[in-house]
Amino acid sequence: MTGLAEKFDGNSYANEALRCKSVDRSVHARMKARKRSIRRIQLAVDKSQVVAALGAVATPRGVPLPQAGVLSDIAVTDGKVFFSINVDASEARAWEDVRAKADAAVRGIPGVVTALVALTAEKKPGSAPVGSHNHGHSHGVKPVASRQQGTPADSPMGKQQSIPGIASIIAVASGKGGVGKSTTALNLALALRDLGLRVGLLDADIYGPSVPRLIGMNEKPKLSDDKKMIPIERFGMPIMSIGFLVAEETAMVWRGPMVMSAIRQMLWDVVWGELDVLVVDMPPGTGDAQLTLAQQVPLRGAVIVSTPQDLALIDARRGISMFAKVDVPTLGIIENMSYFECPECGTRSDIFGHGGAQHEAERLNVPFLGEVPLHMSIRTASDAGTPVLESDPKGTHAAIYRAIAGQIKEQLQRALADV
Ligand SMILES: Nc1ncnc2c1ncn2[C@@H]1O[C@H](COP(=O)(O)OP(=O)(O)O)[C@@H](O)[C@H]1O
Ligand SMILES: [Mg+2]
Repeated sequence: MTGLAEKFDGNSYANEALRCKSVDRSVHARMKARKRSIRRIQLAVDKSQVVAALGAVATPRGVPLPQAGVLSDIAVTDGKVFFSINVDASEARAWEDVRAKADAAVRGIPGVVTALVALTAEKKPGSAPVGSHNHGHSHGVKPVASRQQGTPADSPMGKQQSIPGIASIIAVASGKGGVGKSTTALNLALALRDLGLRVGLLDADIYGPSVPRLIGMNEKPKLSDDKKMIPIERFGMPIMSIGFLVAEETAMVWRGPMVMSAIRQMLWDVVWGELDVLVVDMPPGTGDAQLTLAQQVPLRGAVIVSTPQDLALIDARRGISMFAKVDVPTLGIIENMSYFECPECGTRSDIFGHGGAQHEAERLNVPFLGEVPLHMSIRTASDAGTPVLESDPKGTHAAIYRAIAGQIKEQLQRALADV
């Protein structure tokens, strides 16, 4: 990154704020260390056990799964097993049952901690590329009530189904990384909880799951009697993250269909219980992976997180039109790192320029939900595993998140009343 992009990148705000002596310059150092820490995947040796277990799984083709010519490489690392079953898209439904049986068979092997078995339905030549699907409009942002949670008949895979017990699912998304999406998703979830809602959090940012760090916990979810994952309980909320299941570097090399399958498991194969709202921390960006996800998760709406400067706003605009394409209404835009609040003197400076997101929201006719300042306490609280809503629930920042959450709650209630 050079020039403007670097100057205004959300993670490098320290550059801009050098004037203030209290600015923490450790952000870059930490990012570099994290990159260094990415290791190669270690493929272990007991693959043969997995193949043997899969031999008991019959396929629609009448032969045992390992002989059907549909298995990808099987990766086994630290008791975690990953592989995909590659079939033609037209056969995908018939194979879903095989996937479930393969998953169960692998989990039954002593020593297996987790299994992620993906059903990969490859596109047929000549079929529409992911993302070409729309409903005859490119940008109309629909009011939230116009969409019903659940199963649009024309969903490309016909797979989108609501999750029993969960009234609404909302996505927290951003056009690019580093704008504070995860921090916002977590604090927003906690603020919604403070408003009396039963809230869950799903970290679907498969390429950079940061929720384990933000909540200061990284435990393997236990399995229920019916082999569903029991989410980690923290701050009174059930929480799931791909980071609980696999090492970061493992998920990063997955192909799109494996990502989708992992996310489907984290939605449907988890004991979420009764929730008013499940907040989903989406992967950043507006590419095919994000679009597929937005298509497949039964979303009631999306919240777009943006920093105020132009580049981030362009990305935010792309985010809004991506959700519009799949008929998911934008609940609003949150301007994060909106202005810089010096932790020592309290002085406010508009280091990124200010008011851009509000202006943009008005132009696009989507609600502007509020501005969250760039403040050290938000960052340090996050990094210490205790988000600001927990560390300082009576403070001004907590109040800002609650005000934003109040607007979202209202929109969700309106939507539910209309369904
Ligand atoms: N409002 C804020 N004030 C200060 N630091 C913030 C704020 N929002 C996010 N951060 C910090 O910025 C970095 C990136 O935030 P994160 O939520 O991980 O972004 P994303 O999920 O978009 O990549 C983190 O170190 C986080 O603590
Ligand atoms: Mg993140």
